[in-house]
Amino acid sequence: MKSDKILRVGIIGTGWIAEKAAITLRGLKEAEAYAVGSRNQETADRFAKQWDIAKAYGSYAELIADPDVDLVYVGTPHSHHYDVTRQALLANKPCLVEKAFMANLRESKEIVDLARERKVFIAEAIWTRYQPAVSIVRELISSGRIGTPRLVTATLCYSMGEKPRIMRPDLCGGALLDLGVYALNFVRMFFPSDIVSIDGHCVKGKTGTDLTNAMTLILSDGVLCNLQSSAACVGKNIGVIAGTDGNLVIDNINNPQCITVNTHDGVFVEDIHVPEQITGYEYQFLSCRKALLEGRLEPREMPLEETLYIMQLMDDLRKKWGVRYPMDE
Ligand SMILES: NC(=O)c1ccc[n+]([C@@H]2O[C@H](COP(=O)([O-])OP(=O)(O)OC[C@H]3O[C@@H](n4cnc5c(N)ncnc54)[C@H](OP(=O)(O)O)[C@@H]3O)[C@@H](O)[C@H]2O)c1
Repeated sequence: MKSDKILRVGIIGTGWIAEKAAITLRGLKEAEAYAVGSRNQETADRFAKQWDIAKAYGSYAELIADPDVDLVYVGTPHSHHYDVTRQALLANKPCLVEKAFMANLRESKEIVDLARERKVFIAEAIWTRYQPAVSIVRELISSGRIGTPRLVTATLCYSMGEKPRIMRPDLCGGALLDLGVYALNFVRMFFPSDIVSIDGHCVKGKTGTDLTNAMTLILSDGVLCNLQSSAACVGKNIGVIAGTDGNLVIDNINNPQCITVNTHDGVFVEDIHVPEQITGYEYQFLSCRKALLEGRLEPREMPLEETLYIMQLMDDLRKKWGVRYPMDE
């Protein structure tokens, strides 16, 4: 790819996140929503018209076959990431795949192995990993502003009603893969040390998916992490990193806008605001473009090994909770 190339993104799916991707890409000069693929031609046409997208395909396969698509963005439910991503990789198309990356570790490994074998770029669209807040918080921690970190708490809860994507095991429902994944990433992006112990509990809905969960992690450097996620209530959604000399409060672990630094006794020191954003999803597209320009096969911000590590954690937690998907068999 040439350095002045506008990245042509092909969006797969026309749901909630597909719309956010289209809005985001409209605001970027380095990338564009060039094509959309839907299971239905009319839906694709409607979406393309609404968001001024050049190509509308009535199947995912047609979008993948378009030689002008530079990056396939997979915005289907997690249950359907595997098939479409596999098809795209077999056609040597770089892919950006929504979180949760796949249904489980087995599928994730197969996809990562295939991408590596074919030397095709692939990335997980866990948007928080690509955002400027990551380096701000890392710098605050490493500069010693809060002393030695001892405790991380993070919550992400939305009241999502009986959304099929949350309720149905065959769509990989539950709060963990949808929301808990952010809490786990919140820990891992600031504290990549080994997890020496992980435990958790969940309350299931009537279909057997986890609607509310709590997880406790102990890291090898002595940090304890207490995380919660729920698809059944309205949370405060903050993250707190508490150290021996103060704490950092991240206002929203799912798209941070402000990081508050407090010192001893919780005395306010300063608020640090992130740069103005389009939606916050732009960073993941820019990261993919940069990696493709530089000939890398994965993004620096979210290495594939990290994606696999998180999938393993979520497999382990679901096993403890008895939350099973058809793809686990
Ligand atoms: N990064 C974020 O902030 C964020 C936020 C929300 C969701 N997500 C992720 O994005 C993915 C999609 O979530 P969403 O909220 O956009 O879901 P959604 O509104 O239900 O849309 C999913 C789309 O996938 C396609 N699809 C293919 N097979 C499907 C099936 N069997 N059932 C339903 N839809 C199917 C449909 O498009 P066509 O009918 O056009 O084919 C549908 O519009 C999930 O992996 C989710 O975790 C990420």
